[in-house]
Amino acid sequence: MSTLPNPSPAPEQESVIDQIMTIMGLAFDPVWQEAWNRRQVHDALTFPATHYILMDANGGDPATSGLDAAGFVLTRHVPGEEELLLIAVAPRHRRCGLGEKLIKQMASDARNRGASRIFLEMRYNNPAQSLYRKVGFEPIGKRPNYYKAADGTRIDAITFGLSV
Ligand SMILES: CC(C)(COP(=O)(O)OP(=O)(O)OC[C@H]1O[C@@H](n2cnc3c(N)ncnc32)[C@H](O)[C@@H]1OP(=O)(O)O)[C@@H](O)C(=O)NCCC(=O)NCCS
Repeated sequence: MSTLPNPSPAPEQESVIDQIMTIMGLAFDPVWQEAWNRRQVHDALTFPATHYILMDANGGDPATSGLDAAGFVLTRHVPGEEELLLIAVAPRHRRCGLGEKLIKQMASDARNRGASRIFLEMRYNNPAQSLYRKVGFEPIGKRPNYYKAADGTRIDAITFGLSV
């Protein structure tokens, strides 16, 4: 039985989860089984150490611009470090610099929270690594057979780190 906190989300939290789940459904190829379900997102957001950024197609905050969210990033803070849990941009808004903006804003927010390093884990064949490398992440480790694709294939994870 789970003993983790799991209160009902406030209406504004429901709206955040709705926006994240819409992008999640568009952005992740089910083949890789990387997308989170609604319950996982909800549970992550009940922890104060979990942080998110939603961005519209202009790089603004959908809560103030009134535009639809086009991308999001989800992170978890521990003292001195931030872990990038998920980043996604809806396919029709890709290669316009949104992913880069999300990471740069996230890195700035993480630094303001006291982080000096950001870590992430990625399946080794994810093209997202071009983005990570472009913003300065460097590979620092490998976890063999860490992920499992929908067809059962095991895939290594690469750990990346970035000093901020
Ligand atoms: C990874 C992802 C967030 C990138 O978002 P994006 O908004 O397209 O990224 P950007 O436009 O900011 O890309 C900046 C640079 O990163 C590199 N890059 C980004 N996506 C790339 C890709 N698919 N292939 C090669 N290089 C890529 C390029 O250098 C790009 O600059 P350029 O377009 O001038 O060549 C997006 O492709 C996505 O949502 N993927 C599916 C979800 C996912 O796998 N997330 C990562 C694991 S959680």
